[in-house]
Amino acid sequence: MGKSLRIGVITAYLEEDWHSQQLVEAAGRYGEVVVIRPEQITAWLTPEGVTVRADGVDMKSINGFVLARGFGDRGNPDFVVPVYQILERAGHVLINSIEAVLVAIDKFETSYRLQQAGVATPSVVVVQDGDSACEVLGQWGRLVAKPLFGSLGLGIELVEDTADGRAMLAELVDRYDAVYLQEFVPSPGRDIRAFVVGPRVAASIFRVAKPGEWVTNVHRGAETVVCTLDAETERLAVQAARAVGLDYTGVDILEGPDGPVVIEVNGNPQWQGLLHATGQNMADTILAWVVERIAQTATKGGEYRAERC
Ligand SMILES: Nc1ncnc2c1ncn2[C@@H]1O[C@H](COP(=O)(O)OP(=O)(O)O)[C@@H](O)[C@H]1O
Ligand SMILES: [Mg+2]
Repeated sequence: MGKSLRIGVITAYLEEDWHSQQLVEAAGRYGEVVVIRPEQITAWLTPEGVTVRADGVDMKSINGFVLARGFGDRGNPDFVVPVYQILERAGHVLINSIEAVLVAIDKFETSYRLQQAGVATPSVVVVQDGDSACEVLGQWGRLVAKPLFGSLGLGIELVEDTADGRAMLAELVDRYDAVYLQEFVPSPGRDIRAFVVGPRVAASIFRVAKPGEWVTNVHRGAETVVCTLDAETERLAVQAARAVGLDYTGVDILEGPDGPVVIEVNGNPQWQGLLHATGQNMADTILAWVVERIAQTATKGGEYRAERC
C-alpha cells in the first residue's frame, strides 16, 4: 500500500505522551497523519446517516485508526467510547479495538477471558467484603491484591496470612469496594513482558525487580533485559492477546513452578523500557500491522467500507 493512506491517530495526550508521538511519527511514514483528539469529536445523527467528525475532518476520509490514548481527562469517555464502537461497526480499522481495550483495563474481565480461552493463568477471586477476602487468604496462604482498574504496579499488595495481612485486606475492601485477589506465583525476581503485534511476538524482555522489590514494573524501578522466548511462552503470549482481542499488547508472564503463566494483558502498553533493551521501537511494528489490516479489510470487503459511516 502506497503513500496515499490517511491514518488517524487518536490521542488525548499528544503533548504529554511519548508513545502517542512515536505512533504519529511512524504513521507519517505510510501516509498523511490526522491527529484526532477525543475532545474534538462530534457525532451527527441525521436522516442522511451517521457522520463522525473531529476538528472538521470527516472520519470517512480516514483509512484506519490507531487508538493510542482514546480517553483520559479530555473529552467524555461515556460519549467517545460508543463513537469508537460505531466507527468499528461501520467497517473502520481501529487498533486496538475499543472492545478489547475495555476488557483489558478491567483485570477481572481480562482474567475471565484468559480462563475461558484456556490460557495458563493463576486463580483469581474478586471479593466485596472482608470475610470473603479472609476466606481466600486462609485457603491460599499468600496472595496478591490488586485494584480492579490499575496499572504501572500501583496499588498492588503482597498479602500474607497473618493478622496484619487480614487487616490489610479489610482496609483494601473498604477503599476499593471490590478487590481482585490473585494466587501468588513464586518466580525468579523477574517477569517476562512479551510485546505482541498482530499474530506474533514482536519483541520481549525480562523485567528484573530492583533489589528488595517483588513487583517488576519499570515504573517501580525494574531493569529491562532482552529475552528470547521459547516456543511455548511465545504461543502463550499470542494466545493471551487473542483471548482479549488486542492487536497490540504487552503480555506479562511469570515463570512459575509449573511453567509460564499470564498475569496481565495490557491494552495501552508502554514500550520505552523495551526499546531501551532491544533497540526496537514498537511504533514501527504497530503501524506496519495497522497498514496490513487496512489492506486486508479493503481486500475482504472489496472496497473500503467506511462510507457506511
Ligand atoms: N500473582 C502474582 N504473583 C507474583 N507476582 C505478581 C502477581 N501479580 C502481579 N505480580 C507482580 O506485580 C507486577 C504488576 O502486576 P500486574 O498484574 O501486571 O499489574 P499492573 O497493571 O499494575 O502492571 C507484575 O509485573 C509482577 O511483577
Ligand atoms: Mg503489568
